[in-house]
Amino acid sequence: MPRIILDTDLAMGAPGSDIDDGFALALAHADPDITLELITTVNGNTDVESATILTAELARRLDLGDVPVVKGAAAALTRPQGVRRPADHVEALRATVAPPTPGYAAAAIAELVMANPGEITVVAIGPLTNVAAALSLEPRLAQNVREIVIMGGVFFQTMPTRDLPGEFNVWVDPEAAQAVLRSGMPQRWVGLDVTLQVRLTREHARRMLEADSPFAPFAGESTLAWIDHVAARNPGNALDADSCAMHDPLAMAVVSRPDLVELREVALDVVTGEGPARGVMITDVRESADPPPANARVAAAVDVDAFTEHFLQLITGL
Ligand code: BDR
Ligand code: CA
Repeated sequence: MPRIILDTDLAMGAPGSDIDDGFALALAHADPDITLELITTVNGNTDVESATILTAELARRLDLGDVPVVKGAAAALTRPQGVRRPADHVEALRATVAPPTPGYAAAAIAELVMANPGEITVVAIGPLTNVAAALSLEPRLAQNVREIVIMGGVFFQTMPTRDLPGEFNVWVDPEAAQAVLRSGMPQRWVGLDVTLQVRLTREHARRMLEADSPFAPFAGESTLAWIDHVAARNPGNALDADSCAMHDPLAMAVVSRPDLVELREVALDVVTGEGPARGVMITDVRESADPPPANARVAAAVDVDAFTEHFLQLITGL
């Protein structure tokens, strides 16, 4: 049974914030084939203080018990000016939730992996800053982790209608993504090519609202609020009018259900430094006589119906 570390920039619970990290955490908890051993937080969807408070609040709501929550990087590797503070409504939660476990995410990741060689899967659903820092602390991490599953990147298409040159998690910290790509870690990347296809609709939200369980009605309300928010933000986008993408839950789902996606082995790199292509991933698919060595497996197709059923069945049971 996969034993996992979840590294997340969770923002579920703050009005107008992305909900998919929260659903990935809920899915990890609900999946009988996953053992969640550590949660680490990172700057991304929100500042790391807020991510830590909101993770503790969701852990309380899900009754996660004593899974440690360790705070991580407040800014990307080369962007120390990124540090922000929680909004007032999140700050007010601080007094009501369990404080984080003392320590730093990168050290906690390195320690747990090195204490359990070949056993631990890291599921990274925010910028890769903590993982890159863990690799700096302990380069043998790459040979001792079972695998890293990453929500990040876009590989086989360009995204002309989106407002970033690439995908958010990689764009926030491309230097960290590059460190992971060059580390030799076994890695599966689940990018926008497939995650934009797995969507929660208002109908799915109603199914959650009607479920007789402590968590599902909250999940349904959060989904409706997030669909409304995204629809108002992107008025011309038909896809966003009635549904929202479950990026991070798909990365979590494939940990126990690898059959949900089709993988391709590819040579990946990422554009770092300054400039308009910062954060764009380079997928080398040349069919040459001497192709570059593959360093990653990348999701190229997804079974949307199978994912949606897996997801709803587990979430409505929480
Ligand atoms: C990724 O960016 C975040 O907004 C989501 O939580 C997901 O991890 C998708 O690009
Ligand atoms: Ca995320």
